[in-house]
Amino acid sequence: MGIYTYLNRNTISAGNMINRVLLMTDYQKKKTKARGFPNLLYIEPTNFCNLDCLMCVRRKMKRAVGYMEMSLFSKIIDEVKRYPVELIYLMMFGESLFHKNLIDMVKYCKKAGLKVGISTNATVLNAEISRKIVESGLDFFIISFDSVDPSTYNKIRKGARYEKTRENIETFLRIKGKRKPTTIIQSLIMKGNRLEKKKVQGIFSRYDVTIKFRPVHNWSGEDEDINELQVNQRNLNQNELCDKIWRHLTIQWDGTVVPCCNIYDKQISFGNVKEKTLKEIWNGERMKGFRKAHILGRGKIKFCKDCSYCGLSTKEKIALTVFDSLSQEKILYNSKKWRD
Ligand SMILES: C[S@@+](CC[C@H](N)C(=O)[O-])C[C@H]1O[C@@H](n2cnc3c(N)ncnc32)[C@H](O)[C@@H]1O
Ligand code: SF4
Ligand code: SF4
Repeated sequence: MGIYTYLNRNTISAGNMINRVLLMTDYQKKKTKARGFPNLLYIEPTNFCNLDCLMCVRRKMKRAVGYMEMSLFSKIIDEVKRYPVELIYLMMFGESLFHKNLIDMVKYCKKAGLKVGISTNATVLNAEISRKIVESGLDFFIISFDSVDPSTYNKIRKGARYEKTRENIETFLRIKGKRKPTTIIQSLIMKGNRLEKKKVQGIFSRYDVTIKFRPVHNWSGEDEDINELQVNQRNLNQNELCDKIWRHLTIQWDGTVVPCCNIYDKQISFGNVKEKTLKEIWNGERMKGFRKAHILGRGKIKFCKDCSYCGLSTKEKIALTVFDSLSQEKILYNSKKWRD
């Protein structure tokens, strides 16, 4: 795939480029105030999930299970459409397809000129939902499918059935054909699933889809069972500055704003979008204080010290400055090696 594949309006727009440069400069210069606006947002439609996957930290979640109100969702989008936001992921700790307004959410973003992505476990991805997804204008669709061996799959994705998920995925891919969304079948690599790339590729080779194998990360490292699942672990360097808090924001279904998608409860919160704008929260005292604590040393922050999900190589810093967030995701999913 050539570099031109990744050039789109968001990549070349002067406003977006300036924003990316500001975000990366403030990160590298260790500024507590970020002059840019986060160009990638995670919004959690719901934290309800029908599965209990081996590698997912969701099982530790204690906060209430609920669904984001459409009025709150539109308030967020009405604010952020004014800023150089390049990708909205409608997902976090739950299965977004269970939100009755998910398709309306996608359409609302598209009407506002925003790019949208979703990740799904595909257990309820039937023909009707598949058609609606394709027609909604969704840009990026990650389908989780962690093993081609039925018993391994059923063990990893506890509560799902291999045959049903595979049938759902194939139904979706048939309906989609060569149209949008750009679709990824993502297999998480962990101890216990000996994946054979060729087999997965064999199953889906006739469809317009990218297969991605990605090592599991440890969320924040506090779950021993998940730590144990990791393969090809990165050497943790606690002095590595977390890039996420200079580039992203995550909003839980009730409006609570947290630094990243590792925060399954409310361990670290910067406020609520029902009470403040995202712009105020982004450079509010709590967020600036959190950046400062990171600058002084991640190793001293309880929740962040063992996190394997942050820090950037020089190559990545360049890519994150040059490309928009959606292209960054596509590049990552097409690259030979996942950095985690
Ligand atoms: C928390 S899930 C929510 C979306 C949806 N329920 C799903 O499973 O696709 C978001 C993404 O995190 C991935 N994920 C879960 N546990 C992971 C881990 N330990 N390391 C890396 N990715 C993980 C899932 O496969 C999914 O792509
Ligand atoms: S990985 Fe997705 S499907 Fe599995 S428990 Fe977590 S949120 Fe649910
Ligand atoms: S160090 Fe990890 S857990 Fe902490 S804010 Fe960064 S990405 Fe999130």
